Amino acid sequence: MEAFQETVRRFFKDLWPAEEKILVFGEGQTHQPPLMLIGEAPGEQETLQHRPFVGKAGKNLDAFLQAVSLRREDIYISNVVKIRPTKVSPRGSISNRPPNREELALFTPFLYDEIRLVSPRLLVTLGNVALQAILGRDAVIGACHGRPHTADLQGTALTVFPLYHPASVIYNRSLLATYEADLQALRAHLDAGNVI
Ligand code: URA
Repeated sequence: MEAFQETVRRFFKDLWPAEEKILVFGEGQTHQPPLMLIGEAPGEQETLQHRPFVGKAGKNLDAFLQAVSLRREDIYISNVVKIRPTKVSPRGSISNRPPNREELALFTPFLYDEIRLVSPRLLVTLGNVALQAILGRDAVIGACHGRPHTADLQGTALTVFPLYHPASVIYNRSLLATYEADLQALRAHLDAGNVI
């Protein structure tokens, strides 16, 4: 894992030598965890603390973990893009934006390396960005959420269980009942495979 992180650090230092981009790497159980959770990209708190899913996103994550009876330290948590994508408003304030095509193209091969390295028993993607990084750009969360799919990761078959991004459930309360049902379906899937 250290070598992987160093490779990524070097790559982006060479690519963007003038920029001090903070990379936020995955954390948790790095060796064959029952589940690897993949989010979109770090936000402000994540970049300040150098950890994925902290601050408000961490609270959402805690609710997720409670619902599926898992502990943060037993799983591996990461993001597709490891830098915070930002935009600057005309008044100069900085806010998050979705990762752009260039960022996705740069980071996705490293995500595949990371998945191969960690070798989780199940991938859980949060939202469309993570889903499409694994299942391709034709996959949409509205059609795929809440049930397992088989992903072909450059010749390696993996099971992926797509979920809505918890943040989207906060913005769109009509998704809440669906999201909760999906969490129960995920728990049932874990139980059926005796994953944990
Ligand atoms: N924080 C993360 O680390 N990832 C997300 O997708 C959202 C917030």
